[in-house]
Amino acid sequence: MSGGDRGAALVARLALERHPEGGWFKRIHTSAHALDTAHGARARVTSIHYLLTVDEPRGRLHRNRSDILHYLQGGGPVEYLLLDEADGTLRRVVLGHDVGQQLFLFVPGGIWKASRLIGDADHALVSEAVVPGFDFADHAFADLALLERFPQHRELLALFVRR
Ligand code: GUN
Repeated sequence: MSGGDRGAALVARLALERHPEGGWFKRIHTSAHALDTAHGARARVTSIHYLLTVDEPRGRLHRNRSDILHYLQGGGPVEYLLLDEADGTLRRVVLGHDVGQQLFLFVPGGIWKASRLIGDADHALVSEAVVPGFDFADHAFADLALLERFPQHRELLALFVRR
């Protein structure tokens, strides 16, 4: 099966939908229990499958108030770019099955995150657990004004911002 076919097969098999960040996703778990947060009630935890493919190889730069745990399920390598707005540091992490790559990534709430397939990857299937559970009210996309504050990272991160 060719790379494009493998991604398309996973989209069909897992009944994934297009994600506004780019890529594909499906909610696979929503806790039946609620949690009070400073921003309102949320499920205790939610979880999704998230897939990048040759047709959808990038996840746009965004952040969420919740902590997010990422587990590589298949494919890769996929690179994550993590910008800490507090001090301007940019961390690059590769999820993959080779030496020097990780199978797990923890992203604390508030960190800006983008992702892309790298190397010979034709897909990457990553499952995420979001705590407190996902809500669009906790989510924001980056714009070019954010990048103006971090000129040292602007060129790279501009690849992940919609104009
Ligand atoms: N990103 C992480 N979890 C979710 C979710 O449940 N829904 C959406 N749309 N995006 C997410």
